[in-house]
Amino acid sequence: MIIIAHRGSSQLAPENTLPAIKQAVRDQIEAIEIDVQMTKDSQVIVFHDEWLGRTTNGSGFVYDTPYAEIRRLDAGEWFHPRFKGTHVPLLEEVLHLLQDQPVTLHIELKNHLIDYPGLEQSVIDLVQRYQMDNKVILSSFRVDSLETCLYMAPHIRRGLLCWGTLLPFFTTDEWRQLDLYSVHPHVSLVGENLRPLQQEGYYIFPYVVERKSQLALCQQYEVDGLFTNCPRRIKKLLKQN
Ligand code: G3P
Ligand code: CA
Repeated sequence: MIIIAHRGSSQLAPENTLPAIKQAVRDQIEAIEIDVQMTKDSQVIVFHDEWLGRTTNGSGFVYDTPYAEIRRLDAGEWFHPRFKGTHVPLLEEVLHLLQDQPVTLHIELKNHLIDYPGLEQSVIDLVQRYQMDNKVILSSFRVDSLETCLYMAPHIRRGLLCWGTLLPFFTTDEWRQLDLYSVHPHVSLVGENLRPLQQEGYYIFPYVVERKSQLALCQQYEVDGLFTNCPRRIKKLLKQN
């Protein structure tokens, strides 16, 4: 089962920052997930919320703030004083950091609440510039966004995030044409309803697994991997089994 460090190793370091990603690399976690959005001046940054307040000392919306301003914010102190001075990274910095590492990078296009025209193209351009095409899985809650990715770069794997009903969509011809690599259901959806998707050949990666009981369920239903904020702990638990 593939362990995916959700927003990096986000229980040990501030989410979606270079320290969280480096922690996952140090712990030899084989896959890392990050969220990306676009700033006012169209820079692709690694950041989860649409607004800046929860994980930085700034305020306002990402889409309405130029990167130079975001760069000056502290994205680490809220988590622990020892991370004071941590910045919000550009996607480019993460690609640079990971390009020679043996990791798969899940890039979630965080565009289901706010639309970022051109986000797909910008992300794909960067992934290709760093020759990470084979190491990346693009994901989104938006089917149309993944369709855009399919047209722009059919060879880069795509996964659909979902928190609601899984069926009957995935087993229709229309959905097969999306040529999705994986389905990423909310962990509460892990159960018998995954079976038809598995038969269709989708890789299944539930999010976010924290508890032993959730891990046991993932094992029972033979999912292919899982997103977790505590990859080191889950790795240990899997080894014990
Ligand atoms: O990729 C799975 C998961 O990251 C989706 O939810 O809100 O943590 O981005 P969220
Ligand atoms: Ca995410």
